[in-house]
Amino acid sequence: RLAGVEMAPPDPILGVSVAFNKDTSADKLNLGVGAYRTEDLKPYVLKVVRKAEERMLAKAENKEYLPIEGLAAFNKATMELLLGADSPAIKEQRVACLQSLSGTGSLRVGAAFIAKFMPGTTVYISRPTWGNHKNIFSDAGVEWKEYSYFDAETVGLDFDGMLADLEAAPDGSVVLLHGCAHNPTGVDPTQEQWVKIVDLLQKKKHLPFIDSAYQGFASGSLEQDAFLPRYLVERGIEFATAQSYSKNLGLYAERVGAMSFVLADSDAAQRVLSQLKRLARAIYSNPPVHGARIVSEVVGSEEMFGEWKGEMEMMAGRIKGVRQDLHDALVKVNPDKDWSFVLKQIGMFTFTGMTPAQCDNMTNKWHIYMTRDGRLSLAGLSSAKAAYLAEAMADSVAN
Ligand code: LMR
Repeated sequence: RLAGVEMAPPDPILGVSVAFNKDTSADKLNLGVGAYRTEDLKPYVLKVVRKAEERMLAKAENKEYLPIEGLAAFNKATMELLLGADSPAIKEQRVACLQSLSGTGSLRVGAAFIAKFMPGTTVYISRPTWGNHKNIFSDAGVEWKEYSYFDAETVGLDFDGMLADLEAAPDGSVVLLHGCAHNPTGVDPTQEQWVKIVDLLQKKKHLPFIDSAYQGFASGSLEQDAFLPRYLVERGIEFATAQSYSKNLGLYAERVGAMSFVLADSDAAQRVLSQLKRLARAIYSNPPVHGARIVSEVVGSEEMFGEWKGEMEMMAGRIKGVRQDLHDALVKVNPDKDWSFVLKQIGMFTFTGMTPAQCDNMTNKWHIYMTRDGRLSLAGLSSAKAAYLAEAMADSVAN
């Protein structure tokens, strides 16, 4: 009966790591997945995470099931991180917060919620976007369409195109927005542009759905990177948000994050949370405890929070450093080409505009692994390798 099952294609992001691991070249570089590496290109476990784990071990806590909505201390710390500890939305208990499985799992529960309670609603997704967004909504049975976002000419935001597409969308659509450090482009609206986007969302009664995967990685400031959700609260607009701790706490494999709705009143929040729990129960029952305990130790404690901010600034700073190194090396290799886009983009990635064939040249000839949309993860680059990468890029775009 299953003989006709076709082979699924490799994942456009995680499949790159599989191919990288098989390569035996000494020159190889994995700039595919957005995962932070040290200057020696080794994975990094944050010191605050190790410290939290030591404290947890000393407490010898049990492994009982968590409530479906997750660890209470985790939910509190996570809402406060995004919205600010003194947010009126938290004080008025208007946030329905469900601990979930990092960004993807949170989005998936959010998508299931849209399918069930907003049937027929289309989700508008930026063009381009993170390689998993479309799968998530498609698999949940939610229709999606794209809105203009990236202008290849200016390597910047197609602000007018974005507004026009959101204006043309039917009233009451869902609009998926990247909270900061847009993946894959590294191009974010300015705060003035966000204000205009929010004006339009409000006028059209669209529901903003913020994917917050990089809080702390765009500007190095947790507050600045949370401008959009905090501004929506200020404006009294209801929204959904999926948060991930994969990048900012380096908890990739722990699968720790949250799906939340910020609503008009606490009654609505209770009803929405009850339905999120109902959906999560049928998908994975209840969330894992280990990462949630780490988050509540670090994000929920004043002392550890400060240390965490220091480490995040260090990580964001190293990425900014290699961004500059890469730019300078590119100018050296080919001074006739404009490489300023590398410096203009923010976050973990640089979006190069390379074609799939040029990306293949990077991999096949230079052993540089990247996604075929032209995205390079600078979190996987070292200063020492910047000149090599620049040489490979100059060669690939020349072809
Ligand atoms: C990425 O974009 O590389 C990360 O978000 C990892 C992933 O899950 O795709």
